[in-house]
Amino acid sequence: MSDASTNSDEQPGTDWVFGYGSLIYKVDFPYRRREVASISGWKRRFWQGSHDHRGTPQAPGRVVTLIPSPGTLCRGMAYEVDHAVYEHLDHREKNGYQRHRVDIDLVEAGGTVKGTLYVAGTDNPAFLGPAGAAEMADQILASHGPSGSNREYLLELDKALREIGETDLHVAELARILRNI
Ligand code: BEZ
Repeated sequence: MSDASTNSDEQPGTDWVFGYGSLIYKVDFPYRRREVASISGWKRRFWQGSHDHRGTPQAPGRVVTLIPSPGTLCRGMAYEVDHAVYEHLDHREKNGYQRHRVDIDLVEAGGTVKGTLYVAGTDNPAFLGPAGAAEMADQILASHGPSGSNREYLLELDKALREIGETDLHVAELARILRNI
């Protein structure tokens, strides 16, 4: 008999990770399998400050986190990985992000797997929260960090989302404003 914690699609010693931001297009970790996927009950927002990747402590950039949103589907990429990958990802996403367990629907392959995602909650010190779209686009345009420009992060994410068939109006609006600045 299976229950919510049983994952018949998972090899022993592996787990699934759901990427909704840079993990969709910046894949600097080994994986066994990759599938377009979606989760329910979360929306993607540029509400997390970045002082270690796309900004600096003096001038933080803006990157995505997930905000609870009942009924909303959020599409991204799921990776089947060995547990050792968490050492790398925990370090890469150390600025306020914490692991959560979720059900992940595999869009094209079909089926549901249990997996992990990283969420920067509203109580973490780097959380910026909402602002007007023009203000956020200005901040993104002005920010640069060790991983590159915040502009590149937004445009790469916008492109990657369109490539996997995701319509994310929040990301698309920021990208449109930024391209027109
Ligand atoms: C992601 O792409 O899933 C991700 C985004 C920000 C931090 C950690 C993970």
